[in-house]
Amino acid sequence: MPNTNLRSQCHTFFSATPPRSAAQDFTEMAAWCEAHDIQHDSYGEGKLIQDFENKVAALLGFEAARFVITGTMTQTVALRIACQDKNNRLVALHPTAHVLLHESSNYQLLDHFTPLKVGAPYRPWTVDDLKAIPDRLGAALYELPMREIGGQLPTWEELDAIKAYCHEQNIHLHLDGARLWEAAAGYDKPLNSVAAGFDSAYVSFYKGIGGLGGAMLLGSRDFIDRSSEWMKRMGGNVYQRSPYVVAAAMRLDEKLARMPAYLQRTRDLYQLLTRYPGWQVNPQQPHCNMLHIYFPVNLDTANTARDQLAKDHGVWLFGRVSDAALPQQCYIELYVGEALLALSDEQVGTILGQFQALLATS
Ligand SMILES: Cc1ncc(COP(=O)(O)O)c(C=O)c1O
Repeated sequence: MPNTNLRSQCHTFFSATPPRSAAQDFTEMAAWCEAHDIQHDSYGEGKLIQDFENKVAALLGFEAARFVITGTMTQTVALRIACQDKNNRLVALHPTAHVLLHESSNYQLLDHFTPLKVGAPYRPWTVDDLKAIPDRLGAALYELPMREIGGQLPTWEELDAIKAYCHEQNIHLHLDGARLWEAAAGYDKPLNSVAAGFDSAYVSFYKGIGGLGGAMLLGSRDFIDRSSEWMKRMGGNVYQRSPYVVAAAMRLDEKLARMPAYLQRTRDLYQLLTRYPGWQVNPQQPHCNMLHIYFPVNLDTANTARDQLAKDHGVWLFGRVSDAALPQQCYIELYVGEALLALSDEQVGTILGQFQALLATS
């Protein structure tokens, strides 16, 4: 049976938020629109979208914001404009940056900018990593938290040092804030303190916030106006963005308020995971409400055990498992959200125990 079928037959979920049907989403969205007298936008103009842009700009402490259909379009355009401003095409990015790994070389094929890797692949980059680059840079992108390495964050002091150095060196510092909401909870700081010192930022509305898609670019008014023109050029000027904005706007406040609870649940999970000394977690202690768990088996064994857990117990533990560097090792990403909050420690312990037993026999 394909995994999507198996997943849909499960009653218990571990990572993120239990799946919702399209009908559930649209019903909730319709009710919210009725309650708030929402009208569609027209090419991104209208009260709904402008209010939402102003709200997020104020939350993060930026002058202006633009709702955009994807983060992929947002960030490459933002870096393009930043490089134009500095008259320098070089952008420093961590080797695991989304732009480098998952965007089909858009920066290159669309002639946006020239990337330069900064730092080591398995840890957040530091100001010393940046100083070690002898070239003059136009921009640098920092992802908070760094998803591909288990949601690691630099220390607050390290982040401050990077902000100060970029400012001093006239390097445009851009924030990949796909999971900024989670990072702020991890630092226990307000969103505007985390974003302060960045020249521009992108945030996402379909990961922790649970929208249908969509992103926002934040920066100075002039930067946003020029970026918006470029995104229009690239086909980003969607006629009505209201479905995406509604799905995001109706959940933002509630989800932001839940982030500290997700972090606490992550701390609980770390405690429960100490029962499995053969499994390893990355990072060693939670930085925010996500983590990687490394299992001492290959990928096929982990997939077989996951599917068996679903068949035997109706529990869906994870979606994707990835190969690790060693042959008998693989890892999963867990996002700690509503799904884990809905389970007691005892239930979590039972599920992990069942999975451990299946790993041993798969
Ligand atoms: C860290 C990071 N940056 C950027 C993106 C791109 O966002 P979008 O899917 O909206 O293009 C993602 C998406 O997963 C991401 O995880």
